[in-house]
Amino acid sequence: MAKKDEKNSIPQHVAIIMDGNGRWAKKRFLPRAMGHSAGARNVETICEDAWNLGIKYLTVYAFSTENWTRSDDEVSALMKLLKQYMEGCIEKSRKNNMRVRVIGDISRLSKDMQDAIRRLEDFSKDFDGLQFQVALNYGGRDEIVRAVKGIARDVESNGLDPEKIDEAFISSRLDTSDIPDPDLLIRTSGELRISNFMLWQLAYTEMYFTDVYWPDFDKEELKKAIEYYGGRERRYGGRKA
Ligand code: IPE
Ligand code: IPE
Ligand code: MG
Repeated sequence: MAKKDEKNSIPQHVAIIMDGNGRWAKKRFLPRAMGHSAGARNVETICEDAWNLGIKYLTVYAFSTENWTRSDDEVSALMKLLKQYMEGCIEKSRKNNMRVRVIGDISRLSKDMQDAIRRLEDFSKDFDGLQFQVALNYGGRDEIVRAVKGIARDVESNGLDPEKIDEAFISSRLDTSDIPDPDLLIRTSGELRISNFMLWQLAYTEMYFTDVYWPDFDKEELKKAIEYYGGRERRYGGRKA
């Protein structure tokens, strides 16, 4: 296999399915909510580590459209934690020059949460350090449904010619419109599923799965994932990418 140059061995965009908070807590005889708090703290460190390792875009899956089916107690604990995270993130974004955006349907979230998200996005919009996306009430299928509805409305009312709809056009209507597709997907906790994450964007992404639970996924683990990526020969349609 041809040796990659340094530039290509670091993924530009890493997406993470942060899984295993509940099992991490269970192993320690702690309530699940404690696992989520530990997971949230870990996000902060991983953002800094990712940037220091040369990653430009990081997207994390924080709450899926399916996660509403969890118990009311767990959903409210997660929402409370996520809101605190959004509020505290303003200071972190300033400190680390980090731009933060939320992907997902935020219209179903509380007004307080929506306000916190808007404040954070607006505050950090010109920062050119790590470009950090938090997927919140996010589902890949839901994202595609919302995009298709918008496009259908444009065909119906705004004179959009259906012939103009190609892959690039659809990409431009997704929540990730100005963000490149992930180069590397990481899922922690040993599950080998996509769980409705970035279905369109992951079409040619390399995948890395580890048994480590999310709160334990540290810089060394991130380095292992990047090393794995560096050893892959990326292909696109059977040709070297
Ligand atoms: C991931 O951890 C966090 C969210 C999905 C919000 P889990 O809560 O799924 O933890 P496990 O999979 O039950 O261990
Ligand atoms: C995926 O994890 C969603 C997030 C990490 C936010 P889940 O734990 O909810 O996924 P499943 O149910 O195991 O597929
Ligand atoms: Mg899980």
